[in-house]
Amino acid sequence: MIENKVDLKRAINAVSDVIQNRPQPLREFDQIYMKAGDMVLQTSLIAQRFAGKKLVFIGDGDSISLCIAYLMHSKVIDEGPSEILVLDFDQRMVNAVTRFADRERISHLISAELYNCIDKLPEKYIGAYSAFYTNPPWGASNSGESVKVFAERGMEACGSDAVGVVVIADDSKVEWSREVLWETQSFALGKGFYVQEMQTNLHEYHLDDAPDLRSCNLFFRARPHRKAPTKSYVLHGSRLESFYGREKNLRVKYVKEVARVDYGKAPDSTYFLEKLEK
Ligand SMILES: C[S@@+](CC[C@H](N)C(=O)[O-])C[C@H]1O[C@@H](n2cnc3c(N)ncnc32)[C@H](O)[C@@H]1O
Repeated sequence: MIENKVDLKRAINAVSDVIQNRPQPLREFDQIYMKAGDMVLQTSLIAQRFAGKKLVFIGDGDSISLCIAYLMHSKVIDEGPSEILVLDFDQRMVNAVTRFADRERISHLISAELYNCIDKLPEKYIGAYSAFYTNPPWGASNSGESVKVFAERGMEACGSDAVGVVVIADDSKVEWSREVLWETQSFALGKGFYVQEMQTNLHEYHLDDAPDLRSCNLFFRARPHRKAPTKSYVLHGSRLESFYGREKNLRVKYVKEVARVDYGKAPDSTYFLEKLEK
C-alpha cells in the first residue's frame, strides 16, 4: 500500500475544483482522464517524490500538474516541486492551466506552454529541469514509439542528475502493454536512465472500451554522470505512424481553443429549454 498522508476531504474537494476546470477530452488524441480517487493519490505521491525539483510535464490532460500546485498552495500537502511547467499541444489544456493559475494566484508555481512533442524542444528548456512526468499515448499499435517520444522530450528537458516518471498501461494479461513496458525500459536504459521503481497496476481511467485497463508509475533515475543532451531534434517518419492507435497517425500540429465568454458553463448547443405551460 502506498503511503498517503493527506487530509482526504480537503484533497478531494481541491482535486474536484481542478476537474471542473478541465476541457472535455478528445479520444482521438488519447485524452482519457484518470479517475478522481487515483488523481488524489497520484498528486500526493508525485508531490512527495519530486519535492524541491523543477518538474516538467510532457502533456497533461489529467491535470496532475495543477492538482499538485493547487494542493501545495492550499496547504493540503506540505511539500512538492519548486516549479512546474506543462507542455501540451492542446491549447485548451494550456489555457485551462493558465486561467486556473491566474485565478488562484499560483502562477509563480505553475505555467503552461503550447508545444507539440514532434517539434524540437525549445532551447530554453533543454536541461533546465530536474524531473519529468509524462502520461503519453500508450503506444498499443506502434510498440510504444509514442511513449518513447514523450519520454525522450522529458529526458531532454532534464539536466544530468534527473528523475522522471512515465505513466503507461500495465496489465499482465494484455500482451501489448507488456511489450510496451519492455520497449520503454530498454529505450530508457539506452538514454542513460535506469528503473528506480515500478508501482504496478495502479490508476483507473474513464476508458469505455477497456474500463479495467490500469496504468503504472514507472520511475526512472539517471545513471551517474549521465551526459545531458544539449540539442533537440524534430521527429518524423515512422515515429509518427499509429501514434494514437492503429492507423491514427500524428498529423495535427495543435488543437486550438475556440474563445468563449461563458467558459465553464454548458455550451448552448448541448441542451434546450422546454417552457412551463401558462
Ligand atoms: C496523450 S494524453 C494521455 C492520457 C492522459 N490520461 C490524459 O488524458 O491526459 C496526455 C496529454 O498529451 C497531450 N498530447 C497528445 N499528443 C500530443 C503531442 N503530439 N504533443 C504534445 N502533447 C500531446 C494531450 O493533449 C493530453 O493532454
